[in-house]
Amino acid sequence: MHTHDIPVIAIDGPSASGKGTIAQLVANTLGFYYLDSGALYRLVALKTMQTNTNINDINTLANIAKDLDVIFKHDKIFLGDNEVTDAIRTEECGILASNLASYPQVREALTARQRAFCQTPGLVADGRDMGSVIFPNAALKIFLTASAEIRAQRRYKQLIGKGINANIADLLQDIQKRDARDSNRSTAPLQQGTDAKLLDTTALSITQAKDTVLAWYAETCTNK
Ligand code: DC
Repeated sequence: MHTHDIPVIAIDGPSASGKGTIAQLVANTLGFYYLDSGALYRLVALKTMQTNTNINDINTLANIAKDLDVIFKHDKIFLGDNEVTDAIRTEECGILASNLASYPQVREALTARQRAFCQTPGLVADGRDMGSVIFPNAALKIFLTASAEIRAQRRYKQLIGKGINANIADLLQDIQKRDARDSNRSTAPLQQGTDAKLLDTTALSITQAKDTVLAWYAETCTNK
């Protein structure tokens, strides 16, 4: 089977919109692979911090991205021999990831790695540019969002649940700043493509959001 025959569901959207949770549930239901592309940017950020790399040294950053020694194993993420599943979820790592993600060289270095996740029977990929850049031929493209306030509340619960300290007002500010940075960068900015369906989850439960994606995907399969 050629890669372009493998069905991809691309779910893009802002930080803490719930796209990771929804994408994973949809992937599990369909038996598809799952790509959390944000984790790759967060891994580059973590390695950058660990190696004290200057964040203006674009060549070294691109090499970090190209040479990332990462393994996704079940629900765990390893960088080299170290498990970093929780370490990449801190706000510090997310903010640095958002900054590094504005460098085209870093994005380029991660492109092939992301496309390699596209395997039979299919892939659900979440991020900012899954539908626009990485998988332009995706069977279904979704722009998943929610109000910044609801996203700050969800992120708060997620962090507290992991035992990480958090403050809602700070999180809201970070989310707004991150939205602005991710939306205004010149390479692969976060935006709803004209061919993407809008899914606003502000007033939806996780199950309702997941079921909407599955229903839309079923529609694309019958319309083929
Ligand atoms: O989805 P996330 O919050 O884990 O992503 C962390 C940062 O990585 C996000 O602020 C922007 C960047 N990112 C990106 O630029 N493109 C992607 N496809 C995924 C994430």
